[in-house]
Amino acid sequence: MELSKKVLAVKPSVTLEIAAKAKAMKGQGIDVISLSAGEPDFDTPAFIKEAAIESLKKGNTKYTPVPGTLELRQAVCRKLKRDQGLEFAPDQIVVGCGAKHVIFNVLFALLNPGDEVLIPSPYWLSYPEMVTVLGGTSVFIPTDEKTNFKITPPALEKAITPRSKILILNSPSNPTGAVYTQEELLALCAVLRKHPQVLVLSDEIYEKLIFDGLKHVSIASLDPEIAKRTVIVNGHSKAYAMTGWRLGYAAIPEKTLAKAVESIQSHSTSNPVSFTQPGAVVALDQGDQEAGKMREVFQKRRDLFISLLKKSVPSFKPFKSNGAFYLFTDISGTGLSGFEVAKKLLDEVHVAVIPCEPFGSAQHIRMSYACSEKDIEAAVTRIASIFK
Ligand SMILES: Cc1ncc(COP(=O)(O)O)c(C=O)c1O
Repeated sequence: MELSKKVLAVKPSVTLEIAAKAKAMKGQGIDVISLSAGEPDFDTPAFIKEAAIESLKKGNTKYTPVPGTLELRQAVCRKLKRDQGLEFAPDQIVVGCGAKHVIFNVLFALLNPGDEVLIPSPYWLSYPEMVTVLGGTSVFIPTDEKTNFKITPPALEKAITPRSKILILNSPSNPTGAVYTQEELLALCAVLRKHPQVLVLSDEIYEKLIFDGLKHVSIASLDPEIAKRTVIVNGHSKAYAMTGWRLGYAAIPEKTLAKAVESIQSHSTSNPVSFTQPGAVVALDQGDQEAGKMREVFQKRRDLFISLLKKSVPSFKPFKSNGAFYLFTDISGTGLSGFEVAKKLLDEVHVAVIPCEPFGSAQHIRMSYACSEKDIEAAVTRIASIFK
């Protein structure tokens, strides 16, 4: 059987692969500690589950409108007004089956062969794969620890060409956890204003997981000219521990683009799942207190993890970021690559971590602290038994 050229160009998601391998090892009775998770280890808050159960009991089991129910799109509009001060109408919102799905649809609606997508590196591994399958070209903007893994205005300016169509911003970032400040985003807006052909896709999925008293800022809330060409993507997965519910949304100022995204969705998945949508409404309207509790736990775990590594594994140098739930860790002191370190950890001491080659850095691994403090302590003890 001959597979399509498109699919042959795409690499499967390493994160999902490693998480699956760790799960399979666990299934064989091996005591694996998994630091590979890309999802909160908390359960979905009970009141959110109740809303979905109630909706199912009421017989809410049929197709809904393709971009999601009006009630859910209105709740998204309320959220954007409350949190970001942004005015959106329901016909500018498209809800899909997770933020991943929504990003794919937005890129599908925008990219022509040869269009360039600017991606700050390190990056979430799915962005370039999506760009490839959709015929675009990824242009990476390198960052390092000197700028806390954030792009600077000169670096952005240098990367822009007449073919640049989209800049993907992801704050807080997966895998680095870096969070852009208002000043940094304003400085990027000044560059973007000179290049009206560049749209911004602002992936704000980790918005609720920001530590150290910092606040999330959406680039769309800073500059009306840039707001007009910014698509905000967000969702329920990380904020409210709802990864399996498959809900995410895009807020799209340009109505023709919103219609195009809806049209693509209408020919693939149709609507997002019907009975989960009332759960999504109450999550957006009433979920922030629960999200805040999870955030506090994550911050405590981050601090514990960093202090344990510092004491016991000095060749692992974690970046102390202000967001998400990942420890982006420089392992160049071990003399091995990310893939080699990840393989050694899984094979020899049964600790699953994510190598960051597919995220744009061979000298880093990503360790998730979406796990218990006990697991963090045990994992560091195991890591310290083979790395100094
Ligand atoms: C940066 C980033 N964006 C988007 C997503 C997609 O989230 P979901 O499809 O679960 O809403 C993820 C999930 O890992 C992510 O890390």
